[in-house]
Amino acid sequence: MFAETFLWMTRQSPRLRRSLWRGLFGLLAGKFRDVTWWQYMNYGFAPLDAGDQAPALQAADEPDRYAINLYHHVASGAPIAERDVLEVGCGRGGGSSYIARYLKPARMVGVDISHNAIAFCRKVHRAANLDYRHGDAEALPFADASFDAVVNVESSFCYGSLDGFFAEVARVLRPGGYLLLADLRLAGEVADLDAALARSSLNLVNRRDITQNVVEALARDSERRSKATGDRIPRPFRRMFNVFLGVEGTRMPVHLRSREMIYLS
Ligand SMILES: C[S@@+](CC[C@H](N)C(=O)[O-])C[C@H]1O[C@@H](n2cnc3c(N)ncnc32)[C@H](O)[C@@H]1O
Repeated sequence: MFAETFLWMTRQSPRLRRSLWRGLFGLLAGKFRDVTWWQYMNYGFAPLDAGDQAPALQAADEPDRYAINLYHHVASGAPIAERDVLEVGCGRGGGSSYIARYLKPARMVGVDISHNAIAFCRKVHRAANLDYRHGDAEALPFADASFDAVVNVESSFCYGSLDGFFAEVARVLRPGGYLLLADLRLAGEVADLDAALARSSLNLVNRRDITQNVVEALARDSERRSKATGDRIPRPFRRMFNVFLGVEGTRMPVHLRSREMIYLS
């Protein structure tokens, strides 16, 4: 009930949406600041098509296989090796760390609006080419033409203004740079995302509906997701938490299966 009310409120105005998501993710990052194994906050990707790759992972990264698959799918959309790459909405930092360690950009910078999340990332993830910085997707703290690619995974649904975000991405990208985005929307909101992209100065190179890949990833990963939080969450809040985690039987997998929600990359 709380989760439903929260989600309803996020749809009432762009400012409220931005404040509510910012508040919730800030709270989560503070509450789970010592839970070092929780490094990803996306619904994952299961390779289903012949062209989909599942990257070879070190044993320590295997538990996060589906979340990493999503980053791999998204990052495969552009050259990354030896380039300067920015992630906007890096959350607990696992995705930026994966890209830095496996895909070998010259420089990888993760940005998040939550100070708690950035403090966590700096504590947990270390690599010579990796840095984290506090910042807002709608006012990025970087000079014009600083990056070759911007990665954005399951974060744009939080923003007050997609136009503002796309303008900032276009500003910090070098000519010929790429925005690599994956996110979900209610079916009725997909047109708003497409329209904002069409209004921006970015050109659409590739757009894929990955709803089925995400449904499959959630199904395969559900048990681990529900066990992971288990007794860390006070009993009255477990159901709500499971909704955000996309555990089987909650609204997220149901709505993705029925295509009331669509996941795009
Ligand atoms: C669902 S999490 C996804 C995190 C990460 N991309 C992942 O897949 O694990 C969304 C993240 O977006 C961040 N976020 C929300 N609004 C933001 C904004 N305006 N600027 C930067 N980050 C923002 C939140 O703090 C949160 O960490």
